Formats: sequence, C-alpha cells, structure tokens
Amino acid sequence: MSVLEAFQLKSSLPDNYLSMNNRQMEERVREIKELFGARLYIPGHHYQKDEVIQFADATGDSLQLAQLAAQNKEAEYIVFCGVHFMAETADILTEERQKVILPDMRAGCSMADMADIYQTERAWEKLQTLFGDTILPLTYVNSTAAIKAFCGKHGGATVTSSNAEKMVRWAFTQQERILFLPDQHLGRNTAYQIGIPLNEMAIWDPIAEQLEYDGDVQNIKVILWKGHCSVHEKFTVENINDIRRKNPDMNVIVHPECSWEVVQQADFAGSTNYIIQQLEKAPAGSSWAIGTEMNLVNRLAKHHTDKTVISLNPNMCPCLTMNRIDLPHLLWALESIEKGKLINEIKVDKETSEYAICALNRMLDRA
Ligand code: 13P
Ligand code: SF4
Repeated sequence: MSVLEAFQLKSSLPDNYLSMNNRQMEERVREIKELFGARLYIPGHHYQKDEVIQFADATGDSLQLAQLAAQNKEAEYIVFCGVHFMAETADILTEERQKVILPDMRAGCSMADMADIYQTERAWEKLQTLFGDTILPLTYVNSTAAIKAFCGKHGGATVTSSNAEKMVRWAFTQQERILFLPDQHLGRNTAYQIGIPLNEMAIWDPIAEQLEYDGDVQNIKVILWKGHCSVHEKFTVENINDIRRKNPDMNVIVHPECSWEVVQQADFAGSTNYIIQQLEKAPAGSSWAIGTEMNLVNRLAKHHTDKTVISLNPNMCPCLTMNRIDLPHLLWALESIEKGKLINEIKVDKETSEYAICALNRMLDRA
C-alpha cells in the first residue's frame, strides 16, 4: 500500500483507545508483554517516538532490525515499530508461522513509494536497450517487497545506509553499471565515496521515463533513480553555513539520505547507527548539529547531557509516517494478539518473498 493510499485510509483505531490516558495504556502494554514473554517480540527503529521505543525489545537501524528479524526463531508475534517496508522485510526474513504486525497501516514511507514495480520494469526494459546486459540493480531497503524481488531476480541485492559502500563495491564486481533505487542521494553519496565522479552518474526519471545526462551515455556507471527522502532532503547547505557562522566549533553530522552538497559540506556523514556511535564516542563538552530524523535527534540530546546536541535544521519535524506508530496503536496491536483477532498483519506473497529473500540474503551474507 502506498503512502497516498494509506493517508486516504482513516486510522481504524477503535474509539476506546482515545479515552485512555498514557499511564493506563502503558500498564496494559506491560501486562500483555509479560503475558506473552518470548512469544512476542517488539523491534523498534531509532526514528520511533519515545512512547513506543520504551517498550521495544530491541532498537536498531534498518540493517540491525533486518538481522534481528532473520535471527529470531522464537517469537510467534512480531509487532514491528517502524514503517511498512521494514515490516515487509521482517515478514520475508521470518518463518511462515511467525506473524508480523504493523500497528498502523498508514505508516508507509514516501521514498519507498517513489519507485513502483511497473515503473521499474519499464525503466529496466529501456535501460537494457541502451546498455545491454551490463547493469546490476541495487535497492535501498527503503523500497517495496516487489522492488526487492525485482533486484533478487536480476542478480542484484538490497543495501542499507550502513552497508551501502560495501554493496556498491560488490555490485561493480558483478557488472559494469548499477541501477540504484529508489534514493538518488544515498546512491550518489555512496558512489562518489568510492571514487566514481559525478559525471559518470545519470538520473533515471521514472515519470518522464528518461535518463537525465549530458554527454556520451556509454560513460555512465551509476544510474540513480529519481527518489529521495522528504525528511532528509530538508537539510540544506544554508543550514550548515548558518550553524557555522553562529558556532564555528559545532560538528556537523548528517545521514547519507541528505543531498550530495550537504554531505560534502558536513564534517561527518553516515548511517543512523554511525551517527549514534559518533555521539557515543564524542568528548564531553563537544557540540553537534545533526542532520537526521527528529525523534532520534531529541533522544540523543536527552541522552548526552554532557554535550550540546541540536538539529541541523531548526525548523525540522519528525518523519510523519514513522510517527504514526504511537502508544494507542501499539496497544491496539497487542490487544488484538491477546484476543486472538490479529489486526494489520503484513504478509508478502510467496513468489515475491522468494525473490526478495535472494536480494536480502546477498546483503545479509556480506553485512
Ligand atoms: P537507516 O536505518 O538505514 O539509517 O535508514 C534511515 C531511514 O530513513 C529509515 O527509514
Ligand atoms: Fe521514509 Fe525518510 Fe521517513 Fe525513513 S525518514 S521512513 S526514508 S520518509
């Protein structure tokens, strides 16, 4: 389901959750967790709200959560606190008997929606005509199961922001060129980092169905799908200049979903996990302006009281779709398990799963 379709849906959260206060809901969540023990597993992405993350059995970035899902053979119910593509990944990587639940079906990802399978099949056909069998498709895990399956079918793999460099290097041992979906920024930043110049990268526009490139197309090494994260795109070079004018000692650290210009100007760039680790290692008294999702930035600021931690963009909001998972929806999901009437189960069909798992395993085997 796309974010647009999901926004058209009303949350079907029953009214009784609206009349409960936080303390009552928290008590019920604790009770149900205790009742189910290891039969219930709640993974939470670092971008989730505090009211949800407090109940997570494990927190992590996309890579860690995929690895945890693949390892967990014990839980019957996995209540995934993250977005739709992460719950799909968990369903693909877990066994048939394990049920994956997304507390709010409207928790999609606008970036994942920027590449649909029909657009991808059409792009592939046109790119094959231009370049022949010289391209390997790689997809950021922030994509639908169908796109992962497409990559699996064509010898490609998934990547996350933690292992994109490793995966892009691997891809070039397989083919001359890569098609990187759906985040142009992660693709560009990673390819540039391993030494591919910008003039060997083209953009594929899925709406116009054409390449954006000046020059001889045979020089193209990297084809970047024209998608982006609407959260990370909001960090700008002006934000960095402003911060440096006001506080020249401030360290600027950003996620590689930010634009190439921002990544080039920042002092440090890396995945969600990398950002967390850098802050952990940083000396007391140091100052950090962070270019990533606000729930995480606020949590880091609360945790590192000996450091100054702010958002790189002072007017930033959290990721809207990540925020759809809240305490009432978490409780609703848990009570549905307790009643034996599951809501919002995420089920990827068998054929899609079979190919998607090839793409995921090519990544997990190298992670
Ligand atoms: P990572 O968890 O790989 O850093 O991805 C960030 C993100 O945008 C998740 O939606
Ligand atoms: Fe998607 Fe960006 Fe939100 Fe991550 S932060 S879920 S990539 S919109």
